Amino acid sequence: MTVPSRFDIYVLVHKALRAAMAHTLTAAGRLDWHDDADAVAVLAQVRALLALARTHLAKENEFLHRALEARRPGSSAAAAHDHAQHEESLAALEELAARIESAPGATRTADAGRLYRALALFVAENFEHMHHEETELNAVLWAAYTDDELRAIHDALAASVDPQQMAEVVRWMVPNIAPAERALMLDDMQRKAPAEVFSRVLDLVRPALSARDWDRLMKALAPLPAVA
Ligand SMILES: [Fe+2]
Repeated sequence: MTVPSRFDIYVLVHKALRAAMAHTLTAAGRLDWHDDADAVAVLAQVRALLALARTHLAKENEFLHRALEARRPGSSAAAAHDHAQHEESLAALEELAARIESAPGATRTADAGRLYRALALFVAENFEHMHHEETELNAVLWAAYTDDELRAIHDALAASVDPQQMAEVVRWMVPNIAPAERALMLDDMQRKAPAEVFSRVLDLVRPALSARDWDRLMKALAPLPAVA
């Protein structure tokens, strides 16, 4: 029996987050923290990741937890508890990043080790948390909402994200999702966004795609041939 697939509100943004987290953590691990230019670049990347995680968490609280509680009271409790812990971790990581930035020499090395380990734990907790959302919370959402309702929640959430943060999400998302997901996502964007905005998105993602993936995407987005 074929199980009909449902609209998955988490899958694409979580792929973006997993990619951003893995990339940033490994960048922090291979860095020479004594090199000021490298340290500044990776600290900026860490800060961008923390901002992305903070926005994501706030939007899930505002849109998804509200939807879960509206139809299945109590169903978001475990995820809300995780989110409260993530807020504390984010504040601690931001403080550590600021301390490293202002500390020269040997002190920076010790704090950089702390930052790397704290970031690794934060990533580990988030990976487990996202699994809970994609399995247990999706099951609740699918039982309580139709796909059309879930798409409406998704679109309202996406419309509420400020353009700079959305560009950051798109930058991580597009290269790190499957070709079929990428084609669907950009086809949808091509239909809904102004042409110049869509063109900027393509400029943003092209350098991050392999020649083969870019080619596949262009074929998927090509306009349908006119019917004679
Ligand atoms: Fe979450």
